[in-house]
Amino acid sequence: VSCGDVRQLRFGFKVAVISRDSSRLEKLRAFVSPSTRDKLITLVGNVGSEEGAEEAKQALLKAAGKVTDVVSSLGFSWWQGGPPHTQPLKELVWVLETLLLSTFVSWKVFFPLVRDNPRCTYTFVTGGAGEKVLMPGTGFLTVGAASALAFCQVLREEYPDVPCKLNQLKINSGVAPPERMAPGYLNHLDLGEAVAALVERTNESHKIFSINGPDDLKTFLQ
Ligand SMILES: NC(=O)c1ccc[n+]([C@@H]2O[C@H](COP(=O)([O-])OP(=O)(O)OC[C@H]3O[C@@H](n4cnc5c(N)ncnc54)[C@H](OP(=O)(O)O)[C@@H]3O)[C@@H](O)[C@H]2O)c1
Repeated sequence: VSCGDVRQLRFGFKVAVISRDSSRLEKLRAFVSPSTRDKLITLVGNVGSEEGAEEAKQALLKAAGKVTDVVSSLGFSWWQGGPPHTQPLKELVWVLETLLLSTFVSWKVFFPLVRDNPRCTYTFVTGGAGEKVLMPGTGFLTVGAASALAFCQVLREEYPDVPCKLNQLKINSGVAPPERMAPGYLNHLDLGEAVAALVERTNESHKIFSINGPDDLKTFLQ
């Protein structure tokens, strides 16, 4: 969510980013303009276990005081390890841990912070890889992404009346920084703008906003 963070920082929000990797957080701090850097909270944490997520929540509350919006964009960018018969069980476990289990655990721990407030939001960023195998050898990516889609569906159906705005931004294309752009890809900063815009839009809930390419993103931001 680093790109969305930049926009939200511009609008005066305080933004907290959790990562297991302090060097990634340092990179993010360097990316943000010095004038807004004091509004960026970076926390080293692992939201893949209940204890880790709880620790991250306590650190977040200590640093930020109050939480109004949560963006869950967990996983990995790409996986192309090969067809299922070539894969060890360990690989599938890792895929599910990264795309599904961390999404579940962090939701379980962070959702109570925003659940009962209609001005609060909880947004999942998911991927269209969950609907089809993108190319040979990416099957486990589909399994992981599909499990995240199913989890979001379960939340919509199990909690139809929850006051917090519960939405999903489903990206059906590649996302890259300008130097790695390919036809049909989304610029990561533009996507960040869309995430931030969705967070600011608190009149819709239980929706899936699908982005199929750069044109959809323009429409979304209008
Ligand atoms: N990249 C694309 O082209 C693309 C396209 C369509 C959809 N998407 C969707 O976008 C979402 C995010 O993917 P991405 O491409 O942004 O991947 P990414 O750049 O690898 O970011 C995923 C983030 O998840 C974090 N994470 C995973 N497990 C964690 C844990 N246990 N504790 C704390 N942080 C954890 C990683 O933090 P660490 O720093 O700790 O590793 C990383 O910052 C996924 O749902 C994916 O399906 C991506």
